[in-house]
Amino acid sequence: MGLTIRTLAEEDYPTFHAVLVAAFLDDPHESDAADERPLFDLDRAHGVFDGEEMIGTAAVLPRDLTVPGGPVPAAAITSVGVKPGHRRRGVLTQLMRAQLHGLHDEGLEAFATLWASEGSIYGRYGYGVAAQVTDLRLPRGAAFHPGVDVGDERVRELPREEAMPLVRAIYDRVAPTRVGHLSRTQASWDHHLADEERHRDGLTKYRFALLPDGYAVYRVKISWTDRGPENEVNLRELVAADDRTYAALYRYLLDLDLVGELRYFTGSDDPVFHLLRNPRLARRANRESLWVRVVDLDRALVQRSYLSDVDVVLDVADEFCSWNADRWRFTVKEGEATVRRVTDEPDVALDISALGAAFLGGTRLTTLAKAQHVRELTPGAVRALSHAFVGESAPHCPEVF
Ligand SMILES: CC(C)(COP(=O)(O)OP(=O)(O)OC[C@H]1O[C@@H](n2cnc3c(N)ncnc32)[C@H](O)[C@@H]1OP(=O)(O)O)[C@@H](O)C(=O)NCCC(=O)NCCS
Repeated sequence: MGLTIRTLAEEDYPTFHAVLVAAFLDDPHESDAADERPLFDLDRAHGVFDGEEMIGTAAVLPRDLTVPGGPVPAAAITSVGVKPGHRRRGVLTQLMRAQLHGLHDEGLEAFATLWASEGSIYGRYGYGVAAQVTDLRLPRGAAFHPGVDVGDERVRELPREEAMPLVRAIYDRVAPTRVGHLSRTQASWDHHLADEERHRDGLTKYRFALLPDGYAVYRVKISWTDRGPENEVNLRELVAADDRTYAALYRYLLDLDLVGELRYFTGSDDPVFHLLRNPRLARRANRESLWVRVVDLDRALVQRSYLSDVDVVLDVADEFCSWNADRWRFTVKEGEATVRRVTDEPDVALDISALGAAFLGGTRLTTLAKAQHVRELTPGAVRALSHAFVGESAPHCPEVF
């Protein structure tokens, strides 16, 4: 029997969850399915069926993602899985087609974004690497350069119930100004900061450290050695509305007694590196984080602001979403873009994945040209285009969805 695909209903949910857990090689846990149910709009989740059996899943979380200029609707893709035993027969491709073509046909979110479990999966569907995450390690006590202002407000550690309303208010204020941050629902907060023992991987419960305009949420990995305490501060998220609060929260965490090291999966240009008197104390390893897929080029590119004026004709290739494959005149005036189909001679040839990569302002088109993802047809055109796309800071998504 052939494979079929459809959106899901309430009665499909337990199977959807079970297929997903099995796809990630995990054991099912009784309460996870119920806990995670509020995350999903099931009419935005797909299942692939072999006869009656659900063998593949994928879902869209409708959220706002901050792009240069502010928050805009994004299709946050999650829960992609195919049952072991049913792989490499095109199930993922069917799911990707249903999602991306569905967004186009119904005029929903103009772009999609995801974290990939493996780096080689999504390029073929037109996703590009739009942001990177840094696994940062800082030793306890690492000094800041002279003159760093950390204010004199004391950092307060609050119990979770007291901290959460303050944390949420600060996040909601700051996230719309931080490229790569997503809007969060109650369900996404609960998922992001889930704190049952099975979520903690042997670490402590979350601690909540607050200042009036910022917070840090962290756990501790307890470690005592023959040479003394080497506990690790495992920072989940540090959000601050201003630079002084930002420095003050880092200072607080770096000065905690009994600690060996602070570890944080942070943005690739976290300013803490430049706060340090000795920046070499920071050990950093980068990898890709958010992938972006431009679904409708003309709807997506006008949703963000740009750094400089430009006027170029793009020759766009897009095998998976053929409506984008055309020549487009892309013009920016005073930060705002217009996009229209043309028959003019192109200045730059590129795949749709390059526009996804550049969309958040974190991946330079000049770099993609050097890596042979972008071809310059008119001298100077890539440089001008690249400059317009670059953001004021590197995008960072503090949340895996
Ligand atoms: C990743 C996964 C969803 C792929 O599903 P699938 O149904 O086997 O994929 P398809 O058969 O549609 O494959 C489409 C193409 O992608 C390739 N591909 C699929 N999974 C891949 C992987 N993990 N690494 C590299 N290439 C992969 C296939 O080889 C195929 O290439 P082709 O078009 O050149 O033949 C599935 O392997 C899975 O569930 N993995 C575990 C859970 C997971 O990682 N989910 C993704 C979460 S972000």
